[in-house]
Amino acid sequence: MTRIAIGSGMMRGNDSRRDSPNDLWTPGAVTMPPEKNHQESLEEARSLLAGSAGTVSFSGAGLSAESGIATFRDAQTGLWARFDPMTLASAEGFARDPGLVTEWYRDRRRAIARAAPNPAHRALAAREEIEHITQNIDDLLLRAGADPARIVSLHGTMTRDRCHRHCGYEEEVDMRDPPGVRPCPQCGEELRPSVVWFGEMLPAEAWEKADWLCRSCEVLLVIGTSAVVYPAAALISVAHDAGAKIIVVNTQSSDASALADVEIIGRAGEIVPKLLQSPPGRGRA
Ligand SMILES: NC(=O)c1ccc[n+]([C@@H]2O[C@H](COP(=O)([O-])OP(=O)(O)OC[C@H]3O[C@@H](n4cnc5c(N)ncnc54)[C@H](O)[C@@H]3O)[C@@H](O)[C@H]2O)c1
Ligand SMILES: [Zn+2]
Repeated sequence: MTRIAIGSGMMRGNDSRRDSPNDLWTPGAVTMPPEKNHQESLEEARSLLAGSAGTVSFSGAGLSAESGIATFRDAQTGLWARFDPMTLASAEGFARDPGLVTEWYRDRRRAIARAAPNPAHRALAAREEIEHITQNIDDLLLRAGADPARIVSLHGTMTRDRCHRHCGYEEEVDMRDPPGVRPCPQCGEELRPSVVWFGEMLPAEAWEKADWLCRSCEVLLVIGTSAVVYPAAALISVAHDAGAKIIVVNTQSSDASALADVEIIGRAGEIVPKLLQSPPGRGRA
């Protein structure tokens, strides 16, 4: 385990959004006008990507938003409006009420099972040479056909459960009919989703690979992340400081904006295919 824990304690200090349940992102809204001409930015990003010998994608919940999967802050709406996601996604919350946490994850698992990859997942997956680092715990990039060996899942996956005590036990779960609370068959501790909760360490291997990819890539394509959840968000600075060009795709400006060489304000499902697909008659589709 690396010594770096995920969490709000490492979020940027002035991000009022995380404490503002009423300030929710409106699905589909594109809120900030682009500073540069949109078409110019697209062309600039396309030419950076075309000239890159090593491209890495770094995605967040916005990549899956158009597949109908709520982003982190949207999770505060609907059935779960009364609950703090930090409580539902922390070891303390699980210890307090494993039933509640498990029910919340059952609901999210069913939502992921119902969802399908969107054009952004498919465009990323189709470019076999691109390496992917994702904060997402859904399996949509994988279901879009991306090579599992080229996906670093920084925050784990919803498709598996593991022993909360970390005795080594793990199992696949049926995402359409997810299981409830049950004991680990090896040690008797409760099983829980194999995801990284707030305050928990990131899997060392995933972090080390992500860090290495960011140090060695030529272009980092940052898609649909608020870049406020650390240490994941620090990877953008790692790539930037190592000399990579940073392209940011988001429906609004974010904490990644300041590091962007090119920022494209728009929906991932529309922009990412435009960035990665060659125009007809120019080779790769
Ligand atoms: N799909 C998932 O697996 C999923 C969903 C929710 C939360 N999470 C977890 O929650 C944490 C939150 O961090 P985060 O940065 O990933 O998410 P976040 O919710 O903090 O930020 C999502 C970002 O996506 C942008 N966005 C929304 N719709 C978009 C679209 N259609 N196209 C482009 N951008 C769009 C928003 O403006 C926002 O900046 C992470 O740890 C992640 O693991 C994962
Ligand atoms: Zn166990």
